[in-house]
Amino acid sequence: MIGIIGAMEEEVAKLKELCEDREEIQKGPYFFVKGKLSGKEVVLCKAGIGKVNAAACTQALIDTFSPSQILNTGVAGAIAEEIHVLDLLVSKDAVQYDMDATEFGYPRGQIPREEDLAFPAEEKMIEKALAVGKTMQGFHTFLGRVATGDCFVSSQEKKEFLRKEFQASCCEMEGAAIAQIARKNGVPFLILRFISDEANTKAPMTYTEFERKAIAQSVDFVLEFLK
Ligand code: ADE
Repeated sequence: MIGIIGAMEEEVAKLKELCEDREEIQKGPYFFVKGKLSGKEVVLCKAGIGKVNAAACTQALIDTFSPSQILNTGVAGAIAEEIHVLDLLVSKDAVQYDMDATEFGYPRGQIPREEDLAFPAEEKMIEKALAVGKTMQGFHTFLGRVATGDCFVSSQEKKEFLRKEFQASCCEMEGAAIAQIARKNGVPFLILRFISDEANTKAPMTYTEFERKAIAQSVDFVLEFLK
């Protein structure tokens, strides 16, 4: 079974609707939808926004359903120059850029006493996503680093910081927290993010304009990915 987590209801609503043999399971604050998508067993959940919500939901999903893989889908801001609105970023790895224990000699982003700076996504899931990307029209697919933090990025300065300091390709608010908990439990993960804005001063406006389209592309992509 593949666990699919979105931060916002909009990011998973359509997938929940398309689920066959659907079953709804409530566990604490989480409403899981279990069923089949593209013939594959899946369980879907809205985590809520930010790293804390993402981590808690990931652990609840693992404890309840023991998924073989975890997919995090949704939207992100572009950080790399070559990535634009409505493109797809497939995670090579993910870093929590707002973790800062530099006073103790850790590199910025490194969680003290945990594994490396960035959590690596699963190779086979990456390969599959890149292959699916090649078959789909209307957007470019990139492989890169997801920078996660509890902040909506909307400044050139912060964008440049994320690019220079972390070599990030996109920014969002959940991926690396899901990655951390997935890794801790030995569950392979992948983050798939369609670009809703370019994380600059225009980001709030661009986000509002492109969010729906980016989510629609994400839904189509997930259905292909699962096939
Ligand atoms: N999700 C979509 N766009 C984002 C941005 N600019 N910053 C953080 N999370 C995002």
